[in-house]
Amino acid sequence: MATTTSNRSSNRSGSSRSTSRGGNRSSGEKGNRGSSQRSAFNWGSTGSWLSAAAAGAAIAIGANLARKLAMQGMSAPAGDWDEVLAAEHQQSLIIFDKILETEDSQTMKRTMLIKKLTHALDKHAHEEEHVVYPALRAVNDAHDADLLEGEHGYVKTFLFELSEMEKSSPDFLPKVQMFREMVERHAKMEEEEVFPRLKQGLTREQNDHITNLVNKEGFKMA
Ligand SMILES: [Fe+2]
Ligand SMILES: [Fe+2]
Repeated sequence: MATTTSNRSSNRSGSSRSTSRGGNRSSGEKGNRGSSQRSAFNWGSTGSWLSAAAAGAAIAIGANLARKLAMQGMSAPAGDWDEVLAAEHQQSLIIFDKILETEDSQTMKRTMLIKKLTHALDKHAHEEEHVVYPALRAVNDAHDADLLEGEHGYVKTFLFELSEMEKSSPDFLPKVQMFREMVERHAKMEEEEVFPRLKQGLTREQNDHITNLVNKEGFKMA
């Protein structure tokens, strides 16, 4: 029984294929047109899809570039590398102060401000770790470069702990306060000791070069 059904079915589909291939011109045209439409549709669709994807990617890249330019324009003050970094220290301390003004009930605001602080400190650390600390090591100031870079590790630890913590916890603000004090001490050492010492030994060209590199790294992270 199964064989008969199978044969019948096979014959039916065979007859349908022969009709479509053979006699009836309009049916053949339909078939060909269908086939060519399918082909055109497939290629056209893939091509259109690729074009749309490429256009979408270009728009996304352009939008991201515009966003970065806007962010960099808003957040990166002009000036030499040490002035740029000192201004970023101040911007971070302002975010700390905004967090310290919050109530335990303002959990959403705390979450948003911790994200903002994380972005600001990540960008800042990236600039220092990719440009300024290597420049310090190049002039035999590896001790301070290593010390400061080690402290950046604890900055990330604080950020991790605060992001994991219940934002309504009574321990939240005391931790933020400890974190702020650590960042302020770190920034003071950079601004008052380490950066002036490095800058003093640089030519105008070297100084400008470091400024360009800091801005470039900042742009990547904006
Ligand atoms: Fe630093
Ligand atoms: Fe810094």
